[in-house]
Amino acid sequence: MNLDRVRGWVAAAGRVAVLTGAGMSQESGVPTFRDAQTGLWAHFRPEELATEEGFRADPQRVWDWYAQRRAAMAQVAPNAGHVALADYGRRHPGKLTVITQNVDGLHQRAGSAGVLALHGNIFEDRWVEPPRACCSSRPPVEARPPRCAVCGNLRRPAVVWFGEMLPEAALEAAEQAAQACQLMLVVGTSGAVYPAAGLAHVASEAGARVVVLNPHPSDLDSVADEVLRGTAATLLPKLLVD
Ligand code: APR
Repeated sequence: MNLDRVRGWVAAAGRVAVLTGAGMSQESGVPTFRDAQTGLWAHFRPEELATEEGFRADPQRVWDWYAQRRAAMAQVAPNAGHVALADYGRRHPGKLTVITQNVDGLHQRAGSAGVLALHGNIFEDRWVEPPRACCSSRPPVEARPPRCAVCGNLRRPAVVWFGEMLPEAALEAAEQAAQACQLMLVVGTSGAVYPAAGLAHVASEAGARVVVLNPHPSDLDSVADEVLRGTAATLLPKLLVD
């Protein structure tokens, strides 16, 4: 494994973009998307739980599923990989851009600044219909899900559901970071979901070196200049040393 070679690339790069996926949080014990569908939820398909149609069909069921995932995620802590990225970002202001597909907020909790959360944040809510003046005129009615006391507009998790557009500003900033970096680290993602996975191709086509950190083969191995077979919490502290 060429840790020294990649360490040299990290040191030599002016700008480093980091694209992370569920594997980044695996060592924190975050129940991944599929793991969260255990027990009570196992017999629901993702389309019934993580889509606007699923939410409109049964708002309470979807709200309760996210409440369970929020409770589970509130119990976990950033791992050594999250901390290594946050510490490196503090030591080298402006050099690192963390782009994540994760909704668990662990990069932010570890102290990374300017995290581009492409799929939103599970701890935040938003209105399902465009909010009217009444929606912000008083606290929502405490219900599952909470709703506007006047017009009945419902709150929903502020995450990107299947088939929904990604937050434009975050995606635009992520594409710019992928274009401008000399090195992209792709950590803990299968590379199966676009447009996030496409950012590795953007970086490579712009002339950056791409390094995959993953204990298993991924769809982005083919675009990588180097593949480090290992986990986020073991590899990142070894790479981000200066
Ligand atoms: N360290 C690094 N990588 C790991 C670790 C680890 N400890 N454990 C697992 N992995 C890798 C797996 O080998 C896999 O390639 O993390 C990857 C996780 O892949 P997915 O579960 O597909 O997660 P992700 O790539 O983030 O999925 C993308 O799809 O589920 C939807 O919207 C959801 O954001 C998610 C998107």
